Amino acid sequence: MDTATAAPALLDRCARAFHAHFNKPPTLAALAPGRVNLIGDHTDYNQGLALPMAIDRWTAIAAAPRTDNEIHAGSALGGQVLRIENSTAAPAWTTYIRGTLELTREAGLNLGGLDLWIESDIPTGAGLSSSAALCVALATLIEHATGITLGHAAKARLCQRVEHEYAKVPCGIMDQTIIAAAHEHTAMLLDCRSMVTTYIPFDGREVRVLIADTGVSRALASSAYAARRAECEAAAAFLGVQSLRDAPAPTEEWGTSIPLRRARHVVTENARVQAFAEAIRARDWPAAGHLMDQSHDSLQGDFDITGPALDALIQCARDIGQTSGVLGSRMTGAGMGGCAVLLVRADAADDIAARILPAYSARTGNIARVFPVRPVAGASAATPPIITH
Ligand code: GLA
Repeated sequence: MDTATAAPALLDRCARAFHAHFNKPPTLAALAPGRVNLIGDHTDYNQGLALPMAIDRWTAIAAAPRTDNEIHAGSALGGQVLRIENSTAAPAWTTYIRGTLELTREAGLNLGGLDLWIESDIPTGAGLSSSAALCVALATLIEHATGITLGHAAKARLCQRVEHEYAKVPCGIMDQTIIAAAHEHTAMLLDCRSMVTTYIPFDGREVRVLIADTGVSRALASSAYAARRAECEAAAAFLGVQSLRDAPAPTEEWGTSIPLRRARHVVTENARVQAFAEAIRARDWPAAGHLMDQSHDSLQGDFDITGPALDALIQCARDIGQTSGVLGSRMTGAGMGGCAVLLVRADAADDIAARILPAYSARTGNIARVFPVRPVAGASAATPPIITH
C-alpha cells in the first residue's frame, strides 16, 4: 500500500527545498490537508448535505517576506522558481497562487512581497482536492503573517472564488470548508445551505477508510461538472423550487427525463447523507456501507457521472464483498475518473488493498493505487522547522 508522508516530514522537506532555492531559511509555514467525501456528492452546489473528512495527505508551504513587492514561488511539481505576476502562461498551480494572493489582498490582508515553496503528497488530478488544499494553505499562511484572521467560512468562500474566477472551475463549497475547518478524528456533516457544520466522531478502531485511485485523471470532469450543474438548475426551475434542496420526494412520474433523474439523485443523496450520519454515530457500519453502495448506484444511474474506470473499480470492491470486509464503496468527488472511497473492516484493510489492485488491473489494464486515510484537522499555520545541514 502507498504510505503517506507524516506532516512534520513534509514540512521539513518543504523548508529544506525553500532554503535550497532561496538561499535563506523560511520564516513562515502552513499546512493544509486533502479531503475525501464519504457520502453526498453533487449536493453542495444544490444547497444540500455532504459528509467529507480531511485526510492525512497535506500540502505544505514554506515562505519568507521579500523587501520588494514581488511574489516568487516554486513547487516540487515544477522544480523551479517563477515570478507569479509574470506567469499567465505558466503551470496551472501558479493560477491558484495568484488568485489567492489577489483575493486576500482585496480582503485587506496586505503582505507585500513573498518568496514561497510548495510541497505536497496529495495526488493531483485525482479528486482529493489538491487545488483547494493549496489555496487554503496559502490563505492560512497569509492570515498568520498579517495577523488578520478571515475565519473558516470566509476563507473557504475566498478560496472557492479562486476556483471560480481564476481556475474557471464552477465548484461548490464542500472542499474548501472541510479543508479549512476539519477536526481530527471526526467527519463533518456539512449543510451547504445554512453552512452549519456538525462534527461526528469517526475513529479507526473497527473500520478503516481506503482510497482507491483509478489512475484515470478526470479529463472529462470539468465539462461534465458544468453540464450537471446546469441540469440541476433546469430541474429546480421545472419543479418550481429555488434549489434542489427544496425539491419534493421523487415519484414514479419523474420517470427517465434527464433533469428529473438529476433531481432524484440530489433528493435521495441528501437523505442518504442524513442516514449515514446517524449510522456512523451509532457505529452501525453495515448500514453506513450500504448507504455508500446506494450512493454510487445513484451517481451512476441517475447522475451519469461515474464513468467506466470508477464503475470497474467499484465492481472489484463489490466482488471482494462484505464477507471479506468491504462494507461499502463509492466514487468520491466530481466523478469521471479520480478516486473511489471504501469503508472496510479494520482487520481486513491490508488484504482488501492487496486484492483490489490486481483485480482492477485485470479488468481495465489501468494501474490503481490504494491507500488508507485517517481523519485529520484542517489547515493551520506552522513553525518552520530549523534547518541543520
Ligand atoms: C468537486 C467540487 C465540489 C463538489 C464535488 C462533488 O469536488 O469541487 O464542490 O461539488 O465535486 O460532490
